[in-house]
Amino acid sequence: MATEPVTPPIPSQIHSTPAHPEIMSSQLDTLDPTTPLPPPILTTPRLRIRPMHPQDAPSMQRACAPSSITKYMSLAFAHPYTLQHASVWISTNLTQNLPNYVLTLHDTPTIVMGAIGLKPGADVQSHTAEIGYWVAEKYWGQGYVTEALRAFTDYVFCEKAEIWRRLWAGVFSGNEASMRALKRCGYAEEGVMKGHVEKHGEVRDLHMFGLTRSDWETMKQSQM
Ligand SMILES: CC(C)(COP(=O)(O)OP(=O)(O)OC[C@H]1O[C@@H](n2cnc3c(N)ncnc32)[C@H](O)[C@@H]1OP(=O)(O)O)[C@@H](O)C(=O)NCCC(=O)NCCS
Repeated sequence: MATEPVTPPIPSQIHSTPAHPEIMSSQLDTLDPTTPLPPPILTTPRLRIRPMHPQDAPSMQRACAPSSITKYMSLAFAHPYTLQHASVWISTNLTQNLPNYVLTLHDTPTIVMGAIGLKPGADVQSHTAEIGYWVAEKYWGQGYVTEALRAFTDYVFCEKAEIWRRLWAGVFSGNEASMRALKRCGYAEEGVMKGHVEKHGEVRDLHMFGLTRSDWETMKQSQM
């Protein structure tokens, strides 16, 4: 999924894929680590989904450091991923109020173990957003992204319906777990853009997934 540049390059999509403005290093000075943790926008049986906090930078950096996290991400998701990348990303989100959130477990609310968020569309796609997510490698295969994606999709279509009426994701070929999570949460595979992605000389297809609010409503009604 997605994109994200900067000076220096900052993480992308997972952090989902917001617009990627030029970041000035002076923004780092605006972080106030003494503020309390923001309350979650959502809780699930195992997760808290909350806005970022300046103190998230070290655990975010540790989670994003392995190349396995960035393998299926755009080049804008930096690798190696430094503490400064995390700090700049957090600062960008806090100062611009971007719709990107971190995931924590209930008993470790200060330790970032993943992220989920939106990159809003523009122009004739203003009613859409690209959804992005990641979890730290040690948590893979335990259903965390499926849990977060389902809850976050419900949240967007319930709480932000006046803004977004369609969510979509672009998944690199090979990222079977991400495709599976999207399908489990009701996203349809709408097509494959052949050879659309090239990263470090490796060309991959991009699998497009989408879910409209009306299809989400139909799905929810059929589950009642
Ligand atoms: C892709 C990623 C988000 C999946 O998160 P996760 O929490 O491990 O996913 P889940 O445990 O919810 O599993 C989702 C589904 O994929 C399946 N799955 C897990 N690992 C898999 C693998 N290696 N191959 C195929 N399927 C896999 C699970 O069985 C599950 O399907 P099921 O519900 O039918 O059993 C995670 O690996 C990740 O963060 N990767 C790096 C960042 C990334 O690629 N983000 C997405 C960009 S599009």
